[in-house]
Amino acid sequence: MLNHLPQGCTIIRTLYQGAEAIVTLCEWMDMKVVVKTRVRKGYRIRELDEYIRRSRTIREASLLSLAKRAGVETPFIYHINPAEGWIIMSYVEGENLRNLQRSSIFPHLINRLGYIVGRLHSIGIVHGDLTPANVIVSNDRLTLIDFGLGEYSNEVEKKAEDIYTLVSSLSPLPNNEALVKLFLEGYKSSAGESAIKVEERIKEISKRGRYVEKELRH
Ligand SMILES: Nc1ncnc2c1ncn2[C@@H]1O[C@H](COP(=O)(O)OP(=O)(O)O)[C@@H](O)[C@H]1O
Ligand SMILES: [Mg+2]
Repeated sequence: MLNHLPQGCTIIRTLYQGAEAIVTLCEWMDMKVVVKTRVRKGYRIRELDEYIRRSRTIREASLLSLAKRAGVETPFIYHINPAEGWIIMSYVEGENLRNLQRSSIFPHLINRLGYIVGRLHSIGIVHGDLTPANVIVSNDRLTLIDFGLGEYSNEVEKKAEDIYTLVSSLSPLPNNEALVKLFLEGYKSSAGESAIKVEERIKEISKRGRYVEKELRH
C-alpha cells in the first residue's frame, strides 16, 4: 500500500512498483518531480520496519547529494521525510541503461559508467546496487540513482564487490568480457591509486564465485 504522499503532490503516473519502493512521477510546486516511497513491510516487526525504512531513506538522500561532490550526476533532492520513508527528487528524463543493452552505443556507455564509478569510489562512496537498471541515460549523460544500499567506504573489498555486481549483471550478454574490459578502462582512468588493487580483488571474488558454484553443483 502507498504510504502518505507528500502534501501538495499530484500523481501523474507510477514509474515503478517494486518490492521495496514505489516510484511515482508527480507534480509538486509547479515542477515535475519523482517521489520514491519505501513501502511498509507487514511481515517485519513494526519497529524494525520503521528503522530500516528510515535509515535507507536518509542514507539514499545523503549519498545522492554527496555523490555530486565527485562530479557524478544524480537527481537533486528537494525534500525528505524519513519517518514516512519518502524522498522528493528531480525527475531525470531519459532511457534506463538496462533497456539499451542491445544498442550499438552500449559499450561506449559502459566505458563512461566505469569512469563515473571510478569518480564515486575515489571520494569513498560505494553504490551498493550497481546494475544497469540504476543508471538513466539522457543523450550522452549518465545519471546514477538508487543509493539506498550505498555506503561510505574506502575498503578495497567493498569497491570490488560493487563492481562485481555490475560484472555479474553483464554476464548474460554475448560480449560481456569486452564490456567488462571497457568498464575497467574507464574506472582506472578516474579511480586513483586503489584501482589496481580493486581490479585484483575483483578477480579473486570471481574465482571465489566460481569455486562456490562448483561446490554447489557437486
Ligand atoms: N529521479 C528519477 N527520475 C526518473 N526515473 C526514476 C528516478 N528515480 C527512479 N526512477 C525510475 O524508477 C525505477 C526504480 O527506482 P529505484 O530508485 O531504482 O528503486 P529500487 O530501490 O526499488 O530499485 C528506476 O529504475 C527508474 O526507472
Ligand atoms: Mg533500483
